[in-house]
Amino acid sequence: MELLFSKERIATRVAQLGAAISQDYANTEIVAIVILKGAFMFAADLLRHINVPVTLEFMQIASYHNGTCSSGEVEIILDLHNDIAGKHVIVIEDILDSGRTLKALQSLLAKCNPASVKLCTLLDKRERREVKIEADYVGMEIEDRFTVGYGLDHNGRYRQLEQIYVI
Ligand code: IMP
Ligand code: MG
Repeated sequence: MELLFSKERIATRVAQLGAAISQDYANTEIVAIVILKGAFMFAADLLRHINVPVTLEFMQIASYHNGTCSSGEVEIILDLHNDIAGKHVIVIEDILDSGRTLKALQSLLAKCNPASVKLCTLLDKRERREVKIEADYVGMEIEDRFTVGYGLDHNGRYRQLEQIYVI
């Protein structure tokens, strides 16, 4: 495995993202929706740098990009526990790849009538995008390489690594 982002690099960038979010939402309460499992470590660090009032929600979704009958659909494995109607929502995700997962999630969340929804992703593989979607907050843009660590997995493994590697 080859080191892509050191823990120092990650920490610096995560702190910057937290500061930007805190500034943009000054005097505003937000609901942070952490997308499990991949975003757990990123979210834990990011939230420590957010100094506006936050409530936390967790969602776990499975996407079926290659499914014959369910292409582009997502299955909700863990759903929101509280109403987000009228709330300012930030979705915290590990990586934006084809964009299909977040695109589907966006339309699901829109049905709950939130005041606003912004997307924050640690990594962005822009060149892989298949649907039109942009994150509002991006940690690092990366090339089309498979990354693990800092929450990101390969077949469920490597999530616990504190740095990000390419395999
Ligand atoms: P999308 O719907 O194609 O944008 O899929 C995004 C999801 O694919 C992420 O939440 C990850 O679970 C997974 N994924 C995409 N690229 C990588 C990678 O390089 N490493 C680990 N997981 C990835
Ligand atoms: Mg994953």
